[in-house]
Amino acid sequence: KKLTIGLVPADGIGREVIPAAQKVMEAALPNRFSFLHLDCGFEHFQKTGVALPAETVQRLRDECAGALFGAVSSPSHKVAGYSSPIVALRKQLDLYANVRPVASPLGATGKPIDMVIIRENTECLYIKSERLLSTPLGKIAFADRQITEYASKRIGRMAYTIASQRLAARRAASGSSAGSLPPKATVTIVHKSNVLSITDGLFRESVRAVQADDPTFADIHVEEQLVDSMVYRMFREPEVFDVAVAPNLYGDIISDGAAALVGSLGVVGSANVGDTFVLGEPVHGSAPDIAGKGIANPIAAVRSAALLLAHIGESTPAHRINAAVDKVLVANDPSILTPDLGGRGTTDKVVRAIIAAL
Ligand code: NAI
Ligand code: MG
Repeated sequence: KKLTIGLVPADGIGREVIPAAQKVMEAALPNRFSFLHLDCGFEHFQKTGVALPAETVQRLRDECAGALFGAVSSPSHKVAGYSSPIVALRKQLDLYANVRPVASPLGATGKPIDMVIIRENTECLYIKSERLLSTPLGKIAFADRQITEYASKRIGRMAYTIASQRLAARRAASGSSAGSLPPKATVTIVHKSNVLSITDGLFRESVRAVQADDPTFADIHVEEQLVDSMVYRMFREPEVFDVAVAPNLYGDIISDGAAALVGSLGVVGSANVGDTFVLGEPVHGSAPDIAGKGIANPIAAVRSAALLLAHIGESTPAHRINAAVDKVLVANDPSILTPDLGGRGTTDKVVRAIIAAL
C-alpha cells in the first residue's frame, strides 16, 4: 500500500526545495509514496485572504502519514489578518518538538559534528502575548513568557528518548563509523536560570525530573549550559555535544547558529514532532534574496524528508538518503554545490548528484 505524504511548499524557495526533496524520496523508494500537494503561506494569503486553509490541516490529519513543509515569508511588520501559518500548523497538529540534527562529516572546526538540538515548539516567548503601553515616560512594550511543567517534561522525555536511540545506533555501528561521540549518551539542558530563575528554573527542574522518574534514562549523562556560554562552546568545540534541549526561543537561536558550523542554513533539516504526526521542515526561511533563481540548496529539505521517513518507520531509505547527501558534501564539487556552499551549481544539479549517489 502506498504511503501518502503531504507536501506544503508555501513561499519563496519552499517552492523549489520541496519538489527537489520529492524527487529524492521517489528515487529512494520508487512507487512507495503518493504525494498530496497542499496550500498555505503568505502568497496564498495575499491571493485568498487565508494563510492556512482549514482544508490543508484537515487533509494532513486525515490522509497523510506525515508531511514536508517548505518555508513561509512572514513580513516583519504587522499585516492585518495574517499570522504565521507554520506556527499555527505546529499548534493545530500539536507538534510539540522541533528536532534539529546538526551533522556534517566535516564541520567548521575541521572535525565531524553530530549533534541534535531539540527545541520546545509550543510556548516560551512564542505564545505571542505582547502589549504596548503609552506612558508619560514614553512607550513600554511587554511580552509574557510561558514555561509549563507539562511542556518541559514532554520535551525532556523526547530529548532522553532520542539520546538513547542515538546511543543504541552508535553501539550498533561501532567500529565501522568514524563518529566523534563517545559511547555514552549526553543531554545538555540549555537555559538561563541564573537570571530567569522562575521560568528557566522550572524548565531545567522539569527536564531533570523526567530522568529521576524513569529508570530507563538512568545511564544518560545530563549536563547544563547557560544559553550564552552554550553559543560560545558550540562554536569552540561543537564536536562534544550530543543532544541539547532548549526552550523555544533559545532553541530557535542556537540552531540557526549551529547551522553556520555545518556550512549553511541550506543544509540543516528539522522535524516537527508530535505524538501523532510529523512534519519535516528545513530550518531556513523563504530566502527572498535567492528565490526563483534555481540556486536554493535543496539539502536541508532533503534531510528533512529523511527525518520524516525515519519517524514514520522508513529508516532504511532515510539512512540511504543521508548517506547520499554526505557523499555529495564530501565530494565538494563546486560545479555541483550551490553558492551558499561556495559552489556555482544549482538546485537541480545537487538533486541529480544525490540521486546518482543513492
Ligand atoms: P532565511 O533563512 O530565509 O535566509 C537567510 C539567509 O540564508 C539568506 O541569505 C538566504 O539566501 C540564505 N539561505 C537560506 N536558505 C537557503 C538555502 N536553502 N540555500 C541557499 N541559501 C539559503 O531567513 P531570513 O532572511 O531571516 O527570512 C526570510 C523570510 O523567511 C522571512 O519572511 C521570515 O519570516 C521567513 N522565515 C520563515 C521560516 C519558516 O518558514 N519556518 C523560518 C525563518 C524565516
Ligand atoms: Mg529560525
